[in-house]
Amino acid sequence: MFISIEGIDGCGKTTLCNKLSEYLTKKNIDHIKTLEPGGTLIANQIREILLHSEGLDLKSEILLFLAARAQHVSELIKPALDEGKWVITDRYSDSFLAYQAYGRGFDFDFLNKLNNFACYNLYPDKTFYLKIDVKTSLARQTDPDRISSSDVDFYKRIKLGFDELSQKFSDRFEIIDATQSIEKVFQDILKELNI
Ligand code: TYD
Repeated sequence: MFISIEGIDGCGKTTLCNKLSEYLTKKNIDHIKTLEPGGTLIANQIREILLHSEGLDLKSEILLFLAARAQHVSELIKPALDEGKWVITDRYSDSFLAYQAYGRGFDFDFLNKLNNFACYNLYPDKTFYLKIDVKTSLARQTDPDRISSSDVDFYKRIKLGFDELSQKFSDRFEIIDATQSIEKVFQDILKELNI
């Protein structure tokens, strides 16, 4: 089972990934919990450049997110799935389309093709989109990085991106109202997973 958790900054993804991982451990479901950009040593090195370097060209940003994803899939996600483990990832391919295509304004189809290439055409069985409005997102952000410190219009485009992606890929997307309490959001996720 391959699960991604997606949404704009401040939607509670990381907390939910942790809760889900704890729950799977209790249920003796063998799994890994990971995140993007990152998940492996090389992908973490790329993450440092992505989130903390000044003067990064936007095309470099795109190529580095893809490089991190290719490394993450080939070194960690695919082997874990092959061993029969569940994989939970905090962000994946949809963040790329929402942030770099909708947010930054690069061509969707072109980035979608690059994404297919970088993730070896491996997509989640379920994508939980933790949906919040931009105002809540901005109010919840405490420690912005290079990308998340961008402006309100940027966030509005990303939010629209996730909304449209949830329609386009409705076979795997589950929209969760993430303005609810963490506990309620968590219960909604468990219900969808039937565990
Ligand atoms: P991170 O510190 O992991 O933030 P969060 O807790 O919000 O996930 O930083 C990841 C940042 O990178 C976040 O602002 C979203 C952005 N991002 C992209 O722009 N494109 C991508 O493909 C991915 C995976 C993340």
